[in-house]
Amino acid sequence: MSLNTNTWNRLRYTLYLPVYDLIADRIFRKYRKRSVELLNAKPGDAILLLGAGTGLDLPYLKGYTNLTAIDITPGMIAKLQERAEKLHIPVNARVMNGQQLDFADNSFDAIVAHLILAVIPDPVACIKEVERVLKPGGTVMVFDKFLPDGQQPTIVRRFFNQIAGTLFSDINRSIGAIVSHTSLTIELNEPATLNGTFRLVRLRKPEL
Ligand SMILES: C[S@@+](CC[C@H](N)C(=O)[O-])C[C@H]1O[C@@H](n2cnc3c(N)ncnc32)[C@H](O)[C@@H]1O
Repeated sequence: MSLNTNTWNRLRYTLYLPVYDLIADRIFRKYRKRSVELLNAKPGDAILLLGAGTGLDLPYLKGYTNLTAIDITPGMIAKLQERAEKLHIPVNARVMNGQQLDFADNSFDAIVAHLILAVIPDPVACIKEVERVLKPGGTVMVFDKFLPDGQQPTIVRRFFNQIAGTLFSDINRSIGAIVSHTSLTIELNEPATLNGTFRLVRLRKPEL
């Protein structure tokens, strides 16, 4: 049984806060930059950063004027706001559950979902919310670790996932399986780091 709940995530990310940037900044910089390039958004587009953490994506979003960031951990949002102020980037930052977004349907032109779909307790609830708040024709950039679609995790992997999923992030999720619960289509799925375990995936919501 996994301990991966929203309450646990809020607690552990509050504890990780002092060291989070040391772990998640340098090694992922290249992919954050690439992800924003692939998002291909216009400067005035309404962009949602989902599970935004301390705002490590913000340096790559300079010039975008309509940014919203949400995260379930208040400390993460506080740090993101500090970073946004330092970088002079306007961001509407709010504490919110990514499985139950407090936004109207079709609110955003683009969504950035970095290192969240393998962490959030219910990735299907999250992707359904992404689909709901994204405008028709809108794009989502996902950066995360996934099992290749169709590959079943071994018993050993399932065992280790009890620990990884509780302390770090789930290692047995497949992007295709998650997205299959929505109308979103996978436009691009390119390998990133760790031999392609981490992927950059672009999703699109069909036009009406
Ligand atoms: C691995 S960090 C990724 C942060 C950031 N996206 C990045 O790329 O550095 C996962 C983030 O998801 C947040 N999180 C976990 N569960 C969440 C939920 N249900 N809703 C919103 N954010 C959540 C955590 O607080 C944490 O900031």
